[in-house]
Order: sequence, then structure tokens, then C-alpha cells
Amino acid sequence: MNSGTQKLKASSTDEEKKKFLKKFQNIKDLPSLPVIVAKVNQMLDNPYTTIDSLSAVIEKDQAIVFKMLRLVNSAFFGFREKISNTNEAAIILGLDAIRNIVISLSTFNTLNRISSKNPCDIFKIKDFWNHSVGVAVLSKYLADKNRIGDPEKCFVAGLLHDMGKLILAYYFTDDFKKILDLAKKEDLLFREAEEKAMPGGHHEIGYYISQKWDIPTHLANTIYSHHSMQIGSSTYEDSLIVNTADGIINSYYVDFLNNNTRPGTIAYRYFDKKARERMQPWIESSSKWFPEVEQLINEARKLFLEK
Ligand SMILES: [Fe+2]
Ligand SMILES: [Fe+2]
Repeated sequence: MNSGTQKLKASSTDEEKKKFLKKFQNIKDLPSLPVIVAKVNQMLDNPYTTIDSLSAVIEKDQAIVFKMLRLVNSAFFGFREKISNTNEAAIILGLDAIRNIVISLSTFNTLNRISSKNPCDIFKIKDFWNHSVGVAVLSKYLADKNRIGDPEKCFVAGLLHDMGKLILAYYFTDDFKKILDLAKKEDLLFREAEEKAMPGGHHEIGYYISQKWDIPTHLANTIYSHHSMQIGSSTYEDSLIVNTADGIINSYYVDFLNNNTRPGTIAYRYFDKKARERMQPWIESSSKWFPEVEQLINEARKLFLEK
């Protein structure tokens, strides 16, 4: 192939991709995130923000405060002493961690609103959250134990990493169905099938929606690279952790979209090569340590999914 043809092909692919992503930027009835997210983001960009002023803003949303306190007092946060209000949480965990919790809970609620307003019987929202909460808890655990990446950021990125699939399922159900059918027919993972069927993937959709929602850039970038990470990028380690957690969760439980795994057996096709190499000892020994983290996952699932 001469370079002229290559160029032509590359530009038409770019054009297709642009068109594809535009679809997701222009979803008409996409809800916005609750105002508290923008407010907290704004406050954290201001170096004069104090713990008291941040707490005062969060305290206005009692539903978030209630869930946040349950979350920080749960076993997977690992604090022995009970945290009883937003101020204490901010002192012990730091402002950034509070921002991450507010983003997690608000995005969780907003994605659930999308699911209840746009019925789609082929997408099982409960299975989606079981997967996502599992990846969130395991990402935080692996980041903590290995001192790779930022544990709190990994938690949020783990929770939101596949939100592009949810957006695709509810707003572009035909495309979503096409991918599922192809995956089934050719025994492909969802990610492999979407690569064949569409000019872009759920990681890009998740990234674009994150940007639209003003989710911090680091998180949006981690979502973007959760299947393929760039050495040297600022989100390399967080993406590597989320990818490893995703592969292990898909191996230990039934993959929520493909249904084609043998639960309990590590399926190497889920992992990025770099993650597989760096995390190999952990992946290989997962049967030894996974039961410990499974308890934390179950607790977190209850917390997120029980009303
Ligand atoms: Fe994914
Ligand atoms: Fe996933």
C-alpha cells in the first residue's frame, strides 16, 4: 500500500470516528450530573477552599451525606474509628477523596436515572453495577497493596470504567444489540466485537460523556485507557490497575455481557498485555487472596445496590 492510500484511509477513519462520537455528544435527553459535582469541583480548584466550606456545601445534600458516611465507614475503606460527619470525613480522607466519593455517588444516581427512563431489556443494570462495583473495590485494593496508582481515583475509575456500555445500550440500543449478536456469533468479547462493528468503542463513549459532565480529566483519561494504556501517560498506573481488576472480576464472575467465561478461572484474554506482565504475580495467585477481597466486594455491592 503506498503512503497516499494509507493517508486516505486514515482520514476517512478519522471522519467516521468523529461522526460516531458526535452522536454521543449530541444525546438530547442526557441528564446532567447534580449541581453538587460542579460546585465541589470548583471549590477544589480554589486553593482557599477550607474543609468547613466544602463540608457546608456537601451537607446541603443529605442523601449524598448519608451514602458517603456509609461508604467511608464500610470495611473497604478500612478505618477503625467511626466517621460521623462530613467534616471528619474530609479531615481523615482529604478533600480529594471527598470529591471522588461525591462524583461516584452522583454519577451512580444519574446513570440509574438513565436506566429507569429508557427501558432496555437486553441491558441488565443490576449485573452492570455488580461488575462495576466489583472492579471499583478490587481496583482500590490492588492499588493499595501494590502502591501502584491512586487508590481512591482507581475506585471511581473502576466504578465508571464501562459507563460507555450503558450509554450505548440505552440510547443506541440497535448498535448495542448488533455488538452483542456479533460477540455471540463469533465468540468475541464485547470490546472485540465493538471494534469490528463500530468506528469507536465504549471507552471513548465513556470519555466523551465524562467530559460533558465535567468529570475531572484524570478520571476521564483513565476511563479512556482502561483497555489499552500508554506507558508514560499520567493515567498509566490507574488504567493498568483498573484493567487488571476488570480482568479478574470478569474471570471470577460471569462476564455481565458475554456470558462466555468459566467463572473462577483466569481468562487471560481480558487483560491488556502490559497489565498482565506487570501484575502477573497477583493474577497468578488470585485464588489465594480473592476470598478476602470478595467480602469487601459483597459489602460494597449491598451498599450501592440496596435502597
Ligand atoms: Fe471496558
Ligand atoms: Fe468492565
